[in-house]
Amino acid sequence: MFKIAVLAGDGIGPEVMTQAIKVLRKIEVKYKIEFDLQSADVGGVAIDKHDDPLPGTTLRICESSDCILFGSVGGPKWESLQPEKQPERGALLPLRKHFRLSTNIRPIKIFPILKDICPLKNDLLADSVDILIFRELTGGIYFGEPKYISDDGTYAVDTMKYEKKEIENIARLAFETANGRWGQVTLIDKANVLMTSMLWRRIVQNLWENEYNSIKLNYMYVDNAAMQLIKNPAQFDVILTSNLFGDILSDEASVLAGSLGMLPSASLNKENFGLYEPIGGSAPDIAEKNIANPIAQILCVSQMLKYSFKMNKAALEIENAVETVLNKGYRTKDISLEDTDKIVGTEEMGELICLQI
Ligand code: IPM
Ligand code: MG
Repeated sequence: MFKIAVLAGDGIGPEVMTQAIKVLRKIEVKYKIEFDLQSADVGGVAIDKHDDPLPGTTLRICESSDCILFGSVGGPKWESLQPEKQPERGALLPLRKHFRLSTNIRPIKIFPILKDICPLKNDLLADSVDILIFRELTGGIYFGEPKYISDDGTYAVDTMKYEKKEIENIARLAFETANGRWGQVTLIDKANVLMTSMLWRRIVQNLWENEYNSIKLNYMYVDNAAMQLIKNPAQFDVILTSNLFGDILSDEASVLAGSLGMLPSASLNKENFGLYEPIGGSAPDIAEKNIANPIAQILCVSQMLKYSFKMNKAALEIENAVETVLNKGYRTKDISLEDTDKIVGTEEMGELICLQI
């Protein structure tokens, strides 16, 4: 039996989570495995109920689980609170830190049938785009100390700091993953300016020379990478990068897939404890209208089965189910272009995917 903490959160979180759980229950029956799900409040909904974006009860449920299935947090209602009390700074970042989820994996994949919703011209996509971003998630400028605004409000400080072991850990995973793909890692940094980037290069280069020299290793400055992702996205396989650059580049790359509603992510620690969350936010403007795309959340279930439970076959079955439904012409609003598309709501999309399992 596997124990899963379910933190649906705010905005579209609960409705897309309902669909993801439906898919998980199908897998449970088909693969004769038991999932023990425990729901807990997080983000804005937790602020409203417990005056705390990450209540102790929620943290304890997560601690006693094998992994966390996360929806999304945040919304205009909580934006005027002081930063540490807001859903993002007060729940998501502490959760990442608490469980030392240092490796964030963000797959950017264009389903062939959806090539046309990518805003780039089709010929720029070559055969397809299939990028795996490895973003360091618990270090760098997000967490470095000191971090403050001066008392008189005339200056502020953030600190970007990286340690050898943080870099080695994620670099190793990136190399090992590239090994089962096209075998190419691109380290994206700002080594022409930043000392932390110079350290990344030195350490990644060393690791490559000593253990992974069968993999092709490229280096790219982040400004150039931002341009290359648009000019020639098909050149990338595994991207390896630090926390801040990974944050920015993953939003940019997500546009290639046509909609944020399509993209899952996995955040793992060294013991392989994982938190699985869609890349897109809580989208409060479309919440509770049954129009949100549940595919990102459903693909999070697939990621969870793959990384936390090593159920690769079931994970692939979910991906294939999603692709089959798309190939049949079903679309949520965000991924529809043609009049001939069969537009469906959140619930129907979840139902259609379940039917394929
Ligand atoms: C992300 C988000 C978060 C981040 C925010 C909500 C703190 O943008 O997961 O990419 O910057 O990491
Ligand atoms: Mg981001």
